[in-house]
Amino acid sequence: MFELKEKRILLGITGGIAAYKAAELVRLLRRSNAEVQVVMTQAATEFITPLTLQTLSGRRVRQAFFDPNDEASIGHIDLARWADLILIAPTSADFMARLAHGLANDLLSTLCLAATAPIALAPAMNQQMWLNPATQANAKLLQARGIKLWGPGDGEQACGETGPGRMLEPAELLAQTIKQFNSQLLAGQCVLLTAGPTQEPIDPVRFIGNRSSGKMGFALAQAFVEAGAQVYLISGPVALATPTGVTRIDVGTAIEMQQRVTEHINRCDIFVACAAVADYRPKATAAQKIKKSREQLDLILTRNPDILAEVAASTVPPFTVGFAAETEQLIKHAEEKRRLKRVDMIAANLVGAEQGGFERDENALTVLWEGGSKNLPMARKEKLAQSLVATITERYHAEKHPTKDS
Ligand code: PMT
Repeated sequence: MFELKEKRILLGITGGIAAYKAAELVRLLRRSNAEVQVVMTQAATEFITPLTLQTLSGRRVRQAFFDPNDEASIGHIDLARWADLILIAPTSADFMARLAHGLANDLLSTLCLAATAPIALAPAMNQQMWLNPATQANAKLLQARGIKLWGPGDGEQACGETGPGRMLEPAELLAQTIKQFNSQLLAGQCVLLTAGPTQEPIDPVRFIGNRSSGKMGFALAQAFVEAGAQVYLISGPVALATPTGVTRIDVGTAIEMQQRVTEHINRCDIFVACAAVADYRPKATAAQKIKKSREQLDLILTRNPDILAEVAASTVPPFTVGFAAETEQLIKHAEEKRRLKRVDMIAANLVGAEQGGFERDENALTVLWEGGSKNLPMARKEKLAQSLVATITERYHAEKHPTKDS
């Protein structure tokens, strides 16, 4: 009931028949102890009265951009900064288009441009309008900029048609809002992640490498951003797009990865080593392509630094999470690695032709820490990453690691 205590929600309402549901949404938000400031577009007032929303929210509803009284009490820029979340429910096709193009031609669109808080849209429109390529392009553009789309749902519409475009029910929007705040548990924290393989050159065209695609590490980077963290991702050579909001640093070899980790580790509160770092590298790299003139070719390998163990052994280590990739005796070997490398947690996965782990879209993990463990069953890596980040967050807060700035 009190999940949204002290949370300040700016509820934008745009013109559409679903605007009548905003009354119930305000009631639910207030019942969860949120402060709610309603901002309506001119079109929204055709569907529901400001007086209704003012009564339910306990605050004067804002509508006009150039209202001297409103601006005197709290100016539009301050109002944009006041909000912990801007939720626009319903969001019309017109408002999505204006937001996508950065227009600031009424109070609500101006607030969105000036806001630093997350913005969530609950689209509501006729199914053809939603499916129109222009609306779809706007939706993609807004999502790419980090704006969340909650819905639309599918079903019978006010116009009598059936299809996608229904606004999510107020209870569903309340649940999304609570989830949004609960998922910001790493706000203000810095996370350093390694991902992907390393490639250790034999000569200018050949290298020692492994099957890591980077999918697990990139999914983790995304999940950490969603949890509110600032994320630095040090990645070996992979063919993946950088998740929005992540600072990516590309490397080739284990030595390069070690150098970049050393450069960034002091600013970070959590370190997660998901990279499949080559344990050995050729002692010497041939300057020219090696010719196949000999029947046998001997490569002398030398050991690479253990990046994870080095971080864990540093004077003030961050909360340190390793991975263990095993082909047999998963828990036994992972537990040995956890103890040997002295890390706070280790996420163990089976790898190899049969089991997966590498390359695939799905994975399963067993997470081990001193005195505890958790199984995260087979799931898509994006989903699994969210579960792992939730587990890391729980343990991190339990151990009360202060932030580096404090
Ligand atoms: O990239 P994907 O295709 O999605 O596959 C995901 C994954 C299987 C690569 C991932 O889930 C995983 O298991 N990553 C760790 C792979 C690995 O190298 O495991 P390991 O058991 O050999 O190493 C143990 C730990 O030490 C790892 O955290 C590793 O990053 C770290 N390490 C290892 C060697 C080294 N020189 N430096 C390190 O930091």
